[in-house]
Amino acid sequence: MSEAVKYEDLKIEADRIFGAFEQEFKRFERFAVDRFYAESLPDLTQQLKSEGYSLTEAGDQLSDLAVLKTKYTGKKSEWAAAKKQIGRIGDGLQRASAGQLLLLREVSMIDRLENARMSLEQIIQALRVERESIDVTMPGRRPRPGHLHPITLMRERIEDIFVSLGYAVEDDREIETDFYNFDALNIPPGHPARDPQDTFYTTDGFALRTQTSTVQIHAMQRRGAPVRMIAPGRVFRRDTPDPTHNPMFFQVEGLCVDRGITMAHLKGTLAEFVHRLFGPETRTRFRPSYFPFTEPSAEVDYSCFNCGGEGCRICKGSGWIELGGSGMVHPNVLRAANVDPEEFTGFAFGLGIDRTCARIYQLDDIRLLFENDVRFLEQFR
Ligand code: DAH
Repeated sequence: MSEAVKYEDLKIEADRIFGAFEQEFKRFERFAVDRFYAESLPDLTQQLKSEGYSLTEAGDQLSDLAVLKTKYTGKKSEWAAAKKQIGRIGDGLQRASAGQLLLLREVSMIDRLENARMSLEQIIQALRVERESIDVTMPGRRPRPGHLHPITLMRERIEDIFVSLGYAVEDDREIETDFYNFDALNIPPGHPARDPQDTFYTTDGFALRTQTSTVQIHAMQRRGAPVRMIAPGRVFRRDTPDPTHNPMFFQVEGLCVDRGITMAHLKGTLAEFVHRLFGPETRTRFRPSYFPFTEPSAEVDYSCFNCGGEGCRICKGSGWIELGGSGMVHPNVLRAANVDPEEFTGFAFGLGIDRTCARIYQLDDIRLLFENDVRFLEQFR
């Protein structure tokens, strides 16, 4: 037979275990909400949220709580061992009070563990609902995709038309020597045509190009003849900005050199171009003009895309809109680019991209295109 157990000893042992439990349970105490007062749970949840209490933390606490429960109330716990001692108290009365004492403490432990478990589960549920719920009334975060600048859109339309006519697209330098900007284009020093094209000079002998015509020379030097190319790009002039001028603007140059090219080819090409850009009913008109690099030279107009030639605000009542300059390439220009004018002839033209853009979009001020105000640019996609 095992020895008899003294009531006093068992009480001390039970107090020790219970005390240790109380100590360890402290960290769950706030969750041990009595079922009777369960209405206070939402407040607790709210408070925890404001403390930044997370779902992971709640999950961890729930499993820690289960471990604590096994430790203090499980079959192999010290507490279970202590309970087995009750029957070994000799005195019947003392045995009964020991039984009562341990039962009370056990109920207290189990109650608090259970309350805390239920609270934690509800809190986890609430946090989960919050995480998974989507407020369908909340305005979405709209991505703001960019888009191409109206001048770029215009340039691409022009490129598409000429590429389909068999032209190559040349992209060339914006900083030029006098030779390419003037001399090779039959504008020798002292020529009056240099005056209106005063530009920005950089280091000695270099300047920002005033016209895309420079690319005619580069292209012929690179490719020789025959050649068919367009060259869209920036040009610069020392102009004071006003509603129709900007010191930087865009042109597209065209050049076609081959055996037997005539003015008829030029007219046919530009007529086809405006048909494709503005519609098949668009007419063209050639006015005699002068450019040093072409002979003969012509200015080209097209019938207004808005009124069809009747006269309106867009064409300023004339029915015609200026497209640009053109002509038959001057023999001196061919020679400057090492192309034999006895064998080859060609035509060239130069159009303003931003000018055409401003007409199409009916802009009163060309500078709007360069201010890069998104509220303005957004309108042209
Ligand atoms: N380069 C001229 C300008 O800026 C435009 C021009 C006229 C280009 C006639 C040409 C042309 O190729 O043949 O005003």
